[in-house]
Amino acid sequence: MTRPLHPTALVTGGNRGIGRAIAAGLKARGCNVTITARNADEGRDAAALLGVGFTRVDLTDPDSYFEMMTRSGGFDILVNNAGVLSHASLLAPDSDFDDAMQVMVNAPLDLVRLNVPHWRQSGWGRVVNLSSSWGAHAEGLEGPGAYGVAKAALNALTRALPRDLPPGVKINAVDPGWVRTRMGGEDAPRSVEQGADTAVWLALLPEDGPTGGFFRDRRPADW
Ligand SMILES: NC(=O)c1ccc[n+]([C@@H]2O[C@H](COP(=O)([O-])OP(=O)(O)OC[C@H]3O[C@@H](n4cnc5c(N)ncnc54)[C@H](OP(=O)(O)O)[C@@H]3O)[C@@H](O)[C@H]2O)c1
Repeated sequence: MTRPLHPTALVTGGNRGIGRAIAAGLKARGCNVTITARNADEGRDAAALLGVGFTRVDLTDPDSYFEMMTRSGGFDILVNNAGVLSHASLLAPDSDFDDAMQVMVNAPLDLVRLNVPHWRQSGWGRVVNLSSSWGAHAEGLEGPGAYGVAKAALNALTRALPRDLPPGVKINAVDPGWVRTRMGGEDAPRSVEQGADTAVWLALLPEDGPTGGFFRDRRPADW
């Protein structure tokens, strides 16, 4: 199956940061984009500026995304962008382990599962998981607290899921580099557009493109 002329795309956490730049990049390439945000006002404002759709989703509340996926009927492109970063030790009472795993592992897998009926029908799909070098074993799994563990688990999902996804659906993970966002901070060397570039490329890969890979600057990265 070939790519639809105007693929539908869902970008989680698209109200700001890299997600917002990914949404803009996909829209500029003819996609029919929907962003999600937790805060309805922020989401609506960002969507209006981008000229895309908006739906309120909190990834720690599965009811909110089950409802959204049922109502929408699914998307051609799924960008699991939303992320949380805490520096609390994994062993601290205030560890964000459960939240990190929910937002960056469980919810992305749930969204993939909920989207499978759509892909079975359409025969074409792309999943992009926003990962990090901090979740790479090859770089010492440096992410603080639960972050690196969750990104490593997201990478593991990316490697394992091609076995089970319907034909025509590709899934890849991306390390956007260190990017100037609320998470990355103002000292980061990369703009959000630079951080979004590889994700947008992966979201629109041609039929002979890779699946089950990890990419940085459009090139394979070590897990
Ligand atoms: N910036 C970097 O240097 C860098 C480096 C490597 C990887 N990444 C990854 O790139 C992705 C985007 O990061 P960013 O730098 O753009 O971060 P950001 O500016 O902090 O944005 C994070 C986004 O995730 C959303 N989010 C957080 N918790 C959520 C939840 N429970 N439900 C729904 N949405 C939620 C936020 O929504 P709210 O506005 O409601 O908080 C926001 O839209 C993340 O996965 C991050 O781990 C970033």
